[in-house]
Amino acid sequence: MSAHQNSTPSHNQLDTKAEAWSALFSEPMSDLVKRYTSSVFFDKRMWQADIQGSLAHAEMLAAQKIIAAEDFAAIQKGMAQITAEIEAGSFDWKLDLEDVHLNIEARLTQLVGDAGKRLHTGRSRNDQVATDVRLWLRGEIDLIEGLLKELQRSLVEVAEKNVDVILPGFTHLQVAQPVSFAHHLLAYVEMFKRDAERMLDVRKRVNVLPLGSAALAGTTYPLDRERVARTLGMEGVSQNSLDGVSDRDFAIEFTAAASLCMVHISRLSEELIIWMSQNFGFIRIADRFTTGSSIMPQKKNPDVPELARGKTGRVVGHLMGLITLMKGQPLAYNKDNQEDKEPLFDTVDTLKDTLRIFAEMIGGQVNPATGAKEGGITVNQEAMRAAALKGYATATDLADYLVKKGLPFRDAHETVAHAVKLATMKGVDLTELPLAELQAFNPNIEADVFEALSLEGSLNARNTLGGTAPAQVRAQLARHQARLG
Ligand code: ARG
Repeated sequence: MSAHQNSTPSHNQLDTKAEAWSALFSEPMSDLVKRYTSSVFFDKRMWQADIQGSLAHAEMLAAQKIIAAEDFAAIQKGMAQITAEIEAGSFDWKLDLEDVHLNIEARLTQLVGDAGKRLHTGRSRNDQVATDVRLWLRGEIDLIEGLLKELQRSLVEVAEKNVDVILPGFTHLQVAQPVSFAHHLLAYVEMFKRDAERMLDVRKRVNVLPLGSAALAGTTYPLDRERVARTLGMEGVSQNSLDGVSDRDFAIEFTAAASLCMVHISRLSEELIIWMSQNFGFIRIADRFTTGSSIMPQKKNPDVPELARGKTGRVVGHLMGLITLMKGQPLAYNKDNQEDKEPLFDTVDTLKDTLRIFAEMIGGQVNPATGAKEGGITVNQEAMRAAALKGYATATDLADYLVKKGLPFRDAHETVAHAVKLATMKGVDLTELPLAELQAFNPNIEADVFEALSLEGSLNARNTLGGTAPAQVRAQLARHQARLG
C-alpha cells in the first residue's frame, strides 16, 4: 500500500500555516488574516472529541490494512502523550496551525513521525470537524439531560410541600381562579420534561457519523465506516458524503431546543421576579441569588432570574445566527461553517449554567451534615392566600353552583356579574355577602354556597385529570416522582 512508503523529508513538521498546505503557496498569511481565519482558541475545547475520532479512524485504517499495525500503535502512543500534555496545560496551541485538528495532528507528527502523517489517510478536516462537533455535542446533551432532571426534581420537591397552598391563578395577569401552588410549579415540570424529550430526540440526529465522507465525495480507500461508528458509539453513518460534511441541521436543532428551554426558564424567571416583589411577596429567594443596590439600602434585587431572562435573548440570538449561517451555502463544505462553533459553545455554556443555578435556587442544596436540602425558595402562604381572596377568584364557582341548580351557564354568568358588582360596591368578597343578599340574585342559592365559594371548595371542585384539585395534583406528583426516580 502506497501510504506505507516513506514520504519526502521536507515535510516532517507542520510549523506554520503556509507549510500546512503545500508547496503551492508562495507567501505566508498576514497576521491579521491568520487571526481572522483561525479557530483554535475556541475550538480547542473539542480536543477530546478530536482525539477520540482520530483513534477510531486509525484503528479502522489498521484493521483494513490501510496503515500498518505499528502505525496505529504509534498513533495511540502519541495521542496518549498529547492527552497528558493538554490535561497538564503544557500543550503549545499555535495560532499558526489554525484549528484544533491541525494542532493535534502536527504535534502527533512531531512525536511519532510518519505514522502521524498517515493518520489523515482517507479523511479530510471537513468530515473530521463534523465528526468532532457531533461527538462533543453528544456529551453535552447528556449532561444537559441530567441537569434538566435535576431542575425537575427541585420543582417537584417544592411542589410536594405546597399541594394545599393556594395562590391566585392569573389570565391576562388579572386574578382568574385559585390554584394550588404545587399545580403552578408542576406546569413548569411539564415544560422541562418536554425539553428533555426534545434533547433526546435531537441526540439521535447528532449521533450519526460523517467520517468517511472525506472532503466531499467519499474516498478511494476501503474504509469501514460502520466499524468507526461502532467504536464511537454512534447510531448510524451519514448516507451521502456531500450532506455528511455540510450538514449542520443538528446544531440548529439543538440550539432551537435550547432556545425553547431558555424561554421556559425566562417565563419562570418573570414569575419569580413578580412573586418576590413587595407588592406580591409570595416568595423569597435565598440572598446568595440576589444583589443589593449601591444607593437604595432596602433593595434586594433578583439578579439571577433577571439575568436568565436576559440570557434567553442571547441564546435565541445564537439560533438566529446559526440558521442564517446556513441559508446561502452551496454544497458542500464552506469555511462559513467554522462560525457554527462559538454560538453552539455559548448556547451549551449558558444553558448548563442556567439549569444548574435554577435547580439550586428553587430546590436548595444538600447540607452534607443533615443530608437535607436547604436554601431553596421560601413560600409565604399567607400572602398567596390573601391575594387569592382578592379579585373575586371564585366568581366562576358561583356560576357553576347556579348551573348545578338548573340555570343555563350564560344566565348564571350574568347573575354572578351582578353579585360581583354589588360586592365590589360594598368592598367585600362574595363570601361576605349575607345569604339573603345572594338569594336576591337567585332564590335557589342556599347556605352550602359558602363552601363552593371558599378557596378550598373551588380547588376541590376542579377534579378532572390535569385540574388543580389536590387529589389531581397529588396524582401528577406521583407520576413525576415515578418518572424521575
Ligand atoms: N476549522 C474548520 C471548521 O471549523 C475545520 C474544517 C476546515 N476545512 C477546510 N476545508 N478548510 O470548520
